[in-house]
Order: sequence, then structure tokens, then C-alpha cells
Amino acid sequence: MINDSPSPAPAPSPSPPHPTDGALDVPGLLLLNDILEKMNQGNTLDEVFEATYARLRALLPYNRVAIALASPGGDRVTLVACRSDGPTQLSLGYSGRIAGSSLEDVLRRGRPRILNDLEDYLAQKPQSESTRLMVREGMRSSLTLPLLVKGRPVGIIFFSSRDRNAYGAAHELLLRQVAGHIAILVEKARLTAERERAQEELRRANLELEARIRERTVLLEDLARKNEHLRTTQEALVSSARLAAVGEMAASIAHEIKNPLAGISGAIQVMRDGLDPGHPHREIMKEVLAQVHRLDQTVRDLLAFSRPSRPSKVPLDLAAVVARIRPILEGDPALSGLVVEAAALDALGPVDADPHLVEDVLFNLLTNAAHAMPGGGAVTISGTALPHAVEIHVLDRGCGLSADVRGRLFRPFFTTKVRGTGLGLAICQKIMEAHGGAIRAENAPEGGTVVTLTFPRSRIEP
Ligand SMILES: Nc1ncnc2c1ncn2[C@@H]1O[C@H](COP(=O)(O)OP(=O)(O)O)[C@@H](O)[C@H]1O
Ligand SMILES: [Mg+2]
Repeated sequence: MINDSPSPAPAPSPSPPHPTDGALDVPGLLLLNDILEKMNQGNTLDEVFEATYARLRALLPYNRVAIALASPGGDRVTLVACRSDGPTQLSLGYSGRIAGSSLEDVLRRGRPRILNDLEDYLAQKPQSESTRLMVREGMRSSLTLPLLVKGRPVGIIFFSSRDRNAYGAAHELLLRQVAGHIAILVEKARLTAERERAQEELRRANLELEARIRERTVLLEDLARKNEHLRTTQEALVSSARLAAVGEMAASIAHEIKNPLAGISGAIQVMRDGLDPGHPHREIMKEVLAQVHRLDQTVRDLLAFSRPSRPSKVPLDLAAVVARIRPILEGDPALSGLVVEAAALDALGPVDADPHLVEDVLFNLLTNAAHAMPGGGAVTISGTALPHAVEIHVLDRGCGLSADVRGRLFRPFFTTKVRGTGLGLAICQKIMEAHGGAIRAENAPEGGTVVTLTFPRSRIEP
């Protein structure tokens, strides 16, 4: 890599700063021992370099040290570590073929090589790119040492100096003593790097796998949610289709019944008025009229339920609506002893609503409240002003709602009453939704039921 063609070293004319015969004295041996220990502490090539670059200078001269590793197939070497006192031309990763280069000899024979005049060498081998770069870096001598592990070349270490004739046999001898050790460290560093790379790859693969699992989980959750949505939509569709059919049929029957019912009612009243006040049939007529009235109410409910609810909205004062229906309900003998209390309704401000439909809703709620209190009692109607809505609470002191009833309250035809139609709350819900509002029913903390109506606040200026 550094030099391309096999060539014997020119005769060295060394000027070694330290040992001259390659044998180390006691301080030299201690120093070498210290260096080897420092090398041992490093795991990566960088760490080994860090620990030894400055220290090795005590053993031989250099301005630059580089390590190249042999590829697993042994056909190339690649520069993996380099320290220099100055700027370098050969950068890490620089790679060259071994075959045909001067390094082949170094590696195959396991012999060090000394070039003590690189400029002269370059003049002989002008095609050697690496030598040209070294010379451009200012290097004039080089000592190249193979790194062998159990006789197998794993790489090469290059020492270079700015001085000509920097290296001699003594340096070569000395370095042979440490080359095996360096080779093992280099191999260790290579294996460490390989292990780290493998670990990193594993970690990345793991992360990718985790991300994919997360992605799948999110997809599955999304799918489950969509499935559930589809199921409930389908259920709602089926039930609304069924209800629409039932409603249509009920409406047509109701129309058929309505007029004859009015006729029956009128005829009975005429017959009753023709009887003496004490006549025993009067009681019977009264009962018949009550039943006809109930039938008429049922027919009305069916029609109200099946008719599309299209509110004619006006700015509506809810306090005024309550005030209007209150005497009618309190005077209804069928709602024995109902008392309607209105609390804090005046300050609510107007809502956009259809007065007739709102009356229908309140009639239904107050009738239910009266039914929930067979012995009579008070119903309190209060209000809450919210920023964008007005809430009306209808609170009774009746039996309250069991969990079962609470779950089915608004379903059409759900009733717990012998004479109920189960349409009252379904109609209320339909009307509230047509107003862009809502209705909900809960057990009141103090006992009884509280039904809350939510009206969007009026946008029509009064
Ligand atoms: N204020 C209330 N207190 C207790 N239960 C109620 C109240 N309002 C409604 N319910 C329950 O809800 C059912 C359905 O009410 P509704 O739809 O008005 O039909 P109906 O009054 O014809 O039964 C009632 O049968 C009753 O069981
Ligand atoms: Mg009812």
C-alpha cells in the first residue's frame, strides 16, 4: 500500500536515538512493559493508538504511525488508523491490493522493511502513489512491520520519519519484540469493532422490528375500532329501518283510527248529556270517554313519533313556556296532585326553538314525573346558563331509574307502564335532536329522576 513494488531496502545508515543493538536495558524493558500494558487497556484501535503514540517515541524516532488491516480474503490492505505530527495526505479507508506491491513481500515473509530515502525510492518507482503521498507529507524514511497472529498476517504497521536514514537494524529488532503484541491488539481491536458493528446491526434490526410491531398493533387497533364502528352503524341502520317501517305502519293505522275515534267521542258525549244527572249509565259513559281519550292520546303519540320533526324556530323564552303549561298540568285530574315549581328560569335568555314542540317535550316529561309520583308531589324545573347552551332540568321526587330502565328509556315503545305507549321520551329525543340539542336522564342525588334538556343558545337577535 505504501510502496507498490517489491524492492529490497537500500542499505540503512541508521541514526537511532536509543538502542543501537536492539537489546533493551532495564529502564528500556520497564518502559516497553509499561507501553504493552497501556496497549492492553485499549479496546479499539483508537484507544490503543491514544495510549501508545507518544510513548513509543521513547523507543524509536517517527513523525507518523499508521496501521493497515488485511482484508479477510487477504488480498487487500486498508488504512484503519493513522497519527501524525502534521497534516496527512493518505486518509483513513485508503485501500490497495497486496498482490504485486512491495507489501506482498513484507506480509508473506513476515519480514520488516526499511526505506531510508523515500524521495530516492520514489524516483525509482514513480508509479507508487502511496510513496508519492508520503513524500508530499514530508516523510523521508519508513519502517514497515508485518503484524502476525500465529504466523498469519493480519495487518501492517508503518513508522515514518521526516529525517532521512532514520531507521536501522536496531529499531527493526526492537520492534520485532513488540510487533506480535501489537498484532494481537490490532486483531483484538478488529474483533471488538466487528462485534460492536454486529451488535449495532442487531440493535437496529431490533428497533426496526419493534417499530414494525408497533405499526401493526396500531393498524390492528384501528381495524378493531373501524370494525366496531361498522357494527354499531349497521345495528343502528337495521333498527332505524325497522323503526321507520313500524312508524309508517303506525301512522297509517293512526290516521284510520283518528276520525272514527272523534265520532265515537262526540256520540258518547251527546248520549251522556241526554241522561239524567243521577243516571247509573253516566259513570259508564265517563269511563268510555276516558278510554277514548287515552286511545286518542296514543294515536297522537304515534303520529308525533312517525312525523318528521321540523321545528319552526323562534327566539324562545323558556320561562314563559313553563308559565303557560303549568296551570294546564296542575289542573289535569289524571296527574293527581302535581305541583310544578319553576326556579331561576328568568335569567336564562332566549333559545332558538319551536314553542309547540318544546311544550310537547315538557308535557311528556311532566306527565312521566307525575306517573313516577303516584301519590302526587312537586316537580322542579330549573335552568343553567352555559356559554353556548341553555340547560333545563326537570327534577321529580319519584321512584328514580333502575339501571335496566335507564339503559332503554329512550327506545321507542319501551314502557314499564300498563297503559304506556313507550313513545314519550322517544318523541322528546327526536324533537331535541331536531333542535340541535340533546336530552339525558339520570338519578338525582337527592332521590327521584332528573331529565336534562340542552338547547343551543339563540343566534337570532330578539
Ligand atoms: N321521571 C321518571 N321517573 C321514573 N321513570 C321514568 C321517568 N320518565 C320515564 N320513566 C321510565 O321510562 C319509560 C318510558 O317513558 P316514555 O317514553 O315516556 O313512555 P311511557 O311514559 O309511555 O312509558 C317509562 O315507562 C318509565 O319506566
Ligand atoms: Mg311518557
